[in-house]
Amino acid sequence: MSDTTLTQRFCRVTTDLVVREPRLWVVLRWPMRIIFDRLAPEWDAIRSSADAYAPYEAALERVEPAPRRALDLGTGTGGAAFLIALRFPKADVTGADIAERMVEQARQNLDDDLRDRVRFEVADASKLPYPNASFDLVGLSNMIPFFDELDRVLASGGSLIVAFSGGAGTPIYVSPERLRAELARRGFSDFADFSTDPGTALLARKPAEA
Ligand SMILES: C[S@@+](CC[C@H](N)C(=O)[O-])C[C@H]1O[C@@H](n2cnc3c(N)ncnc32)[C@H](O)[C@@H]1O
Repeated sequence: MSDTTLTQRFCRVTTDLVVREPRLWVVLRWPMRIIFDRLAPEWDAIRSSADAYAPYEAALERVEPAPRRALDLGTGTGGAAFLIALRFPKADVTGADIAERMVEQARQNLDDDLRDRVRFEVADASKLPYPNASFDLVGLSNMIPFFDELDRVLASGGSLIVAFSGGAGTPIYVSPERLRAELARRGFSDFADFSTDPGTALLARKPAEA
């Protein structure tokens, strides 16, 4: 079995386990971080296809109102964070990733004209260093969702995007049924599905406060 196949299988199994039982992340986070630290130098080449972020972009087009504070979680080398910044010119954008070398690469990819409102930080999505309700938009591209933390850092009325570049064939993948069930349990609504073949995305809204 090739290294790539092994890595993809590890990502798939880890995603399935952690979505079912988030406490397992304590033991799985280290191998995950090491894998993506190693992949960082080649990640931009791996993600160079024109449709790599197509489902994320399709969902972004439907986000309204325009967010002022946005978070791209598991940002890798920052591709989706840059898309948010370009689409919403008044938004401050944070890209967060557990792998230090991904964050270093993302910082190198940051153009001067975005430096004042896009930043990249090392952070673990299972325990984010941000206060409650810090963001109006949270996006995940090919990233394991930690639902309680997503709910906590998203402001009332905010939008959530969960996108997978290769749909059900993406190594890190959660079915739309599972996503909807977990989010609906936490009060999310206004679900919209996007398909960019093979990419898929789900857009959801956290209810505004009464
Ligand atoms: C498959 S890559 C996707 C990167 C980027 N979003 C993209 O679509 O190209 C998954 C990324 O999530 C990061 N990651 C995995 N678990 C994480 C966690 N709990 N917190 C933050 N980042 C995490 C990995 O380090 C990796 O950079």
